[in-house]
Amino acid sequence: MTLPKFRAQRGQITNFDADKAQSVCGGALQGHVVAPGDKSISHRAMIFGAMARGTTTVSGLLEGADIMSTAGAMRAFGADIVRAKDGVWSIKGRGDAGFKSPQNPVDCGNAGTGVRLIMGAAAGYPVTARYVGDASLSSRPMGRVTKPLSQMGAKISSDNSNDRLPLTVIGTSNLTPISYAPPIASAQVKSAILLAALNAKGTSSITEAHMTRDHTENMLRAFGAKLEQIPNGDGQIVRLSGPQALSGCHVTVPGDPSSAAFLIVAALISPGSDIVIENVMMNPSRTGLFETLVEMGGHIIAGNFRISGGEVLADLHIKYSALYGVDVPPRRAASMIDEYPVLAVAAAFAHGPTVMDGIGELRVKESDRISATANLLSVIGADVTELKDGLTVTGTGGKTLPGGAVVTTHHDHRIAMSALIAGLRCKAPVAIDDASMIATSFPNFFDLFTGLGAAMTQPTS
Ligand code: S3P
Repeated sequence: MTLPKFRAQRGQITNFDADKAQSVCGGALQGHVVAPGDKSISHRAMIFGAMARGTTTVSGLLEGADIMSTAGAMRAFGADIVRAKDGVWSIKGRGDAGFKSPQNPVDCGNAGTGVRLIMGAAAGYPVTARYVGDASLSSRPMGRVTKPLSQMGAKISSDNSNDRLPLTVIGTSNLTPISYAPPIASAQVKSAILLAALNAKGTSSITEAHMTRDHTENMLRAFGAKLEQIPNGDGQIVRLSGPQALSGCHVTVPGDPSSAAFLIVAALISPGSDIVIENVMMNPSRTGLFETLVEMGGHIIAGNFRISGGEVLADLHIKYSALYGVDVPPRRAASMIDEYPVLAVAAAFAHGPTVMDGIGELRVKESDRISATANLLSVIGADVTELKDGLTVTGTGGKTLPGGAVVTTHHDHRIAMSALIAGLRCKAPVAIDDASMIATSFPNFFDLFTGLGAAMTQPTS
């Protein structure tokens, strides 16, 4: 039998299958780690840098597969992108010359954020681009961005007469501004419109009923753009007048709270754990999970607050905790939209039920995350009920679950990682059918976890 690449340091994995990533109940997690770079900010740095005049430099970029797809796309539109030996990326933007038409289809891989923002950015240039992606991305709705972009004057056609990839977008330097209220809370939709609006003549406005992550607004300002954000109930109105040129700048990418989420939940559910995660972005549009886990009784102490690259960062100290189920307010959903699968894992070991409702958007993420999470939990023996737009999970009150199952990940990185975190509190190993997608957002996932002492292995091939 071939040995696993990473040996579990403390826990014992039995029924070892070298072809699959797996985890099992082991010892406590202990140590310090640095959160990987934020995926949302990394995509934006690549795209804004490619649009801007001059050179943009990026430190701390998440070098995950999704971001590499976006970098490839930006090169296809004519940007010159290189990584220096010290890990700093530099992007020579197209500036006043504008995007070039790509020679080949633009392959956005698995990245919903990548394709939706790029379609918005490219819509404001007279270029034609055909967008393609992997099986997961090709099943996700694109109408949410193609509809407003068409209203602004982009010509969009689909191979399959629905709103899925492959799609061809013919952009124009004569976009008309738009006033738009997205029917769903989506930072991707807001961002696609704002990027198109940079090259439209006149003022565009977006009315968000619920505030979504505001990295586009913050980063546009760092690139010299002018825009207004007017608070409006739980949401905001964003106004941007075009045309406006961006100027290259330096971007320092903070640690990703959505990746830190896996480390936090792992420590909260593994007895004796005591870890520190450094460099986590604490933008309030992203911290809904932390708030929820603290309400559940989680020991999560944020300290060493500082500002870097326009975002607030902190180091988080997490200790194993007794957790108690809560009703997660639906209005918090936008600030933790990617964290529900791993919250459901925490809930599976809490005392009493946790209700997560009003999260229908999870059905159109990299997979149908409501059904994939319900399946993950039920195959390892947890008490879970799938709702139309949510999940109810009743926890074990701190006891282990049986495990001993292979979880279907549906090519979804967050389902894969959530399953491996759940396995850390299971009697028998929990394996996943495919670990490859983890690299889209968290390339050093196995190194970080095994370094903290998690009983986790990744496939040898
Ligand atoms: C993202 C926005 C969210 C999130 C995604 C990243 C972004 O999607 O799920 O992982 O960077 O703007 P929606 O805007 O569709 O909710």
